[in-house]
Amino acid sequence: MMNLVFLGPPGAGKGTQAKIVSEKLGIPHISTGDMLREAIASGTELGKKVEEIVKSGQLVSDDLMAQIVEERLAKDDCTKGFILDGYPRTIPQVHALEEILKKLSKSLDAVIFIDVEEEELVRRITSRRVCPKCHAVYSLISSPPKEDEICDKCGTKLVQRDDDKEETVRDRYKIYLEKTQPIVSYYEKNKLLKRIDGKLPVEEVTKMILEALGRI
Ligand code: AP5
Repeated sequence: MMNLVFLGPPGAGKGTQAKIVSEKLGIPHISTGDMLREAIASGTELGKKVEEIVKSGQLVSDDLMAQIVEERLAKDDCTKGFILDGYPRTIPQVHALEEILKKLSKSLDAVIFIDVEEEELVRRITSRRVCPKCHAVYSLISSPPKEDEICDKCGTKLVQRDDDKEETVRDRYKIYLEKTQPIVSYYEKNKLLKRIDGKLPVEEVTKMILEALGRI
């Protein structure tokens, strides 16, 4: 069993790697961004509340995120372990997660920090396309779909995320530096942090993560 957090700037490859590693380890991939985008797409109360915030690249409130994450981690499939992708991303969220895990008698095994520099992040995010149905992620540069703009897995037309315009990406990066980067030194101090160079090709990054977790 492994309880993991994947941390890093927007576009570092957290989602890409979390999908691969979750399959290899047989544990669920919990992306708070995917959960919020699903709620927005299906027009739920939560979706209406967060729509403008997510589209503009701002952060949803810590209290609301704590509720969403607690509910998800309490589900049966998390007894085998989990990968949290995109949570926590503020210091208050770090403390909220500690409370949630304590309540559920769980603890973290490692925090995988995938780092990439700003210009590469902007390049990756502006060329990203996603499947609105099955959440598969493509890159027009490094991993394009076989058929132009169509999801290889489910045949749905790919879209660009609303928050993936260059201007919004730069705002998201500023928010990351201000609110999320302080978490890195927090987890470094308590020895959970594993630092991974995210600028290498996808397969090499996966290999480094599995090595850091003692799985190869
Ligand atoms: P979220 O969905 O979590 O967005 P993010 O953290 O900004 O991360 P991204 O999904 O943009 O990037 P990624 O690191 O997963 O990269 P990916 O693998 O796709 O959050 C979205 C929004 O929801 C937030 O802005 C906020 O509003 C809200 N939210 C979510 N969680 C919240 C929280 N806890 N608190 C408050 N608000 C919250 O890769 C990027 C691209 O690069 C892809 O095209 C991929 O194919 C390509 N790629 C990946 N790896 C490589 C590689 N090694 N080499 C070349 N290309 C690569």
